[in-house]
Amino acid sequence: MTVIDSLVPEYGGNLHNLSGYAERVRINLSDIRDCFSLEALLGGQEVIFNLAGQTSHLDSMKDPQTDLAINFTAQLSLLQLCRRVNPGARIVFASTR
Ligand SMILES: NC(=O)c1ccc[n+]([C@@H]2O[C@H](COP(=O)([O-])OP(=O)(O)OC[C@H]3O[C@@H](n4cnc5c(N)ncnc54)[C@H](O)[C@@H]3O)[C@@H](O)[C@H]2O)c1
Repeated sequence: MTVIDSLVPEYGGNLHNLSGYAERVRINLSDIRDCFSLEALLGGQEVIFNLAGQTSHLDSMKDPQTDLAINFTAQLSLLQLCRRVNPGARIVFASTR
């Protein structure tokens, strides 16, 4: 299993949440806006739980371009990359935004 997270400090990701799983989980510090990294990581995955997102309403008002880049453009890129490198993957998309 691979976990991808940008760990941008303001966004709340914390490696402590994976403590005890070091043997079973490969952690990759990547940003879902980075299509090159994503393309390499998506191949061969059976299920993709897509939980990465900018979840602050306040931040989306202060910096709508970043919100759009993470919560829309990067999400669409992920789907396009899957279509190219892993069309059989099942994607679980949790976002409410
Ligand atoms: N928490 C809830 O009650 C709830 C309910 C319904 C849906 N959701 C949805 O589930 C998803 C996850 O929610 P959460 O509560 O765990 O949010 P969260 O903010 O705790 O976690 C989001 C994670 O995404 C990472 N992230 C942010 N931008 C990234 C980027 N550009 N590249 C890679 N990683 C990035 C953050 O570092 C963080 O670890 C969101 O899409 C949210 O809308 C959450």
